[in-house]
Amino acid sequence: MRKKIVAGNWKMNCTLPEGKKLASEVIHMVEDEVNNDADVILIPPFIHLTGIHSLIGSSNNIFLGAQNCHQHQSGAFTGEVSAEMLISAGATYVILGHSERREYFHETDELLADKVSFALDNNLTPIFCCGEKLEVREAGKHEDLVKTQVEKALFGLTKDQIKKVVIAYEPVWAIGTGKTATAEQAQEMHAFIRKQIADKYSQDVADSISILYGGSVKPENAKEIFSQPDVDGGLIGGASLKSRDFTNIVKAFD
Ligand code: 13P
Repeated sequence: MRKKIVAGNWKMNCTLPEGKKLASEVIHMVEDEVNNDADVILIPPFIHLTGIHSLIGSSNNIFLGAQNCHQHQSGAFTGEVSAEMLISAGATYVILGHSERREYFHETDELLADKVSFALDNNLTPIFCCGEKLEVREAGKHEDLVKTQVEKALFGLTKDQIKKVVIAYEPVWAIGTGKTATAEQAQEMHAFIRKQIADKYSQDVADSISILYGGSVKPENAKEIFSQPDVDGGLIGGASLKSRDFTNIVKAFD
């Protein structure tokens, strides 16, 4: 059985007091109202990690993640944060390759291959993001592009390593636009990604990897998207900043 996951990527939002309030509300609502075994991951800005880690405490289904990490252990990289630091602050997941990092910070699949393997070496679970821009989809090249992203960043991993990776398919045209992929479009791409992994590794490995959908997921559309056979949950942006909406998305698995 694959793990079901709902992760909230706060991006560059919330002061520390706002973040603590949001996290406390989510933690209470999830504990009181959710009737499923999905893992919930809160992914605040780096600087809020320790504060939010202490609120999560010893919950066994709410986890902490970071939005990025550096590909070296330590050293003269001003402004960067290492995998070891994230672990020491209580994070167990890290988003790598978000389209905003690819676009604004020029992260390439080659760099991401280093980051993914480095995160795994440090016992951080990567949430590896892939997904196409609108013009690529309109040209009918979305599967080719996602295949290349997955191959370049992940296919240097061993079987045991890739089994520990979470993949998030986030079509760039659906991020923050209110324009969600249809449940069929999500399913089609998730099945395609799973098949690439099965062809390279094995069906067992492919069947064990959680693939999340991201891009304008809301309480109104979460149930339909999450009910697709190859969709194992969501990576949520805007709606993760509202405790009621985010909790209702987690409840879509009830
Ligand atoms: P939205 O849910 O705001 O579209 O963002 C998705 C996303 O980028 C999550 O990483």
